[in-house]
Amino acid sequence: MRVIRVSDYEELSLRSADLIASLIILKPDCVLGLATGGTPLGTYRDLIRLYREGRIDFSQVSSVNLDEYRGLKPDDPHSYRYFMDQNLFQNINIDPAHTFVPDGCESDPASACSKYDAIIDRFPLIDLQLLGLGGDGHIGFNEPSDCFIRRTHCVTLKEETIRANSRFFQDKAEVPHQAYTMGIADIMKASRILMIVSGSSKAAILRQVLEGPVTPAVPASVLHLHRNCTVIADEDALQCCDRLCKDSQFILP
Ligand code: F6R
Repeated sequence: MRVIRVSDYEELSLRSADLIASLIILKPDCVLGLATGGTPLGTYRDLIRLYREGRIDFSQVSSVNLDEYRGLKPDDPHSYRYFMDQNLFQNINIDPAHTFVPDGCESDPASACSKYDAIIDRFPLIDLQLLGLGGDGHIGFNEPSDCFIRRTHCVTLKEETIRANSRFFQDKAEVPHQAYTMGIADIMKASRILMIVSGSSKAAILRQVLEGPVTPAVPASVLHLHRNCTVIADEDALQCCDRLCKDSQFILP
């Protein structure tokens, strides 16, 4: 696992956008695994800027998102499909037919999950999977558990996740309690993983991820087992990792 220490959120966004842009330039028909939430907003803003400057072309790119709230329609402003359309897809030249998000309207979880697995299986691989880090260590919506769940599944969100995500809703009571999420095996199958972590609210959990054991109780800890995982984290997020090297880049064994 390679950790890149950056000064702040702006630098984090720039570095992650540059990394994704480099992949698009080298492999124009790449498959991107994408995340929602607050952390990738700056990355998406910088990717849109690079696109507008004519430096990247999304016309052959495909994307597969990590998760979606169960029960929300694509045009619901709180759905992750809507988030992706607003914050990235409508601002670049990606073919909407090549962008995939789990179907939150599919009320039968078994059907929703098997359909999304079939979509993931259409791609030989995800070239780069972008991840944020949940306050309880979740990636996608793979919540702390006693086992890693391999494929797309319906998850009941933890109280901490509902509380954290209530900032995107008028009222906490509006936050859906369930979601469909890509599983850990499909995340781990990506050729390259990029996790971005910003802010002091993530400092304690980032320390557990970077310094603690691999355990499904801290889902992101599984990334230690990936052969090509980069974590970009800012000073605030790394403030509890005092045992780790202070260099701007370091490799964890
Ligand atoms: C969302 C997702 C989640 C978020 C995580 C962090 O698609 O996959 O795992 O990345 O909840 O969210 P923020 O960035 O809002 O702190």
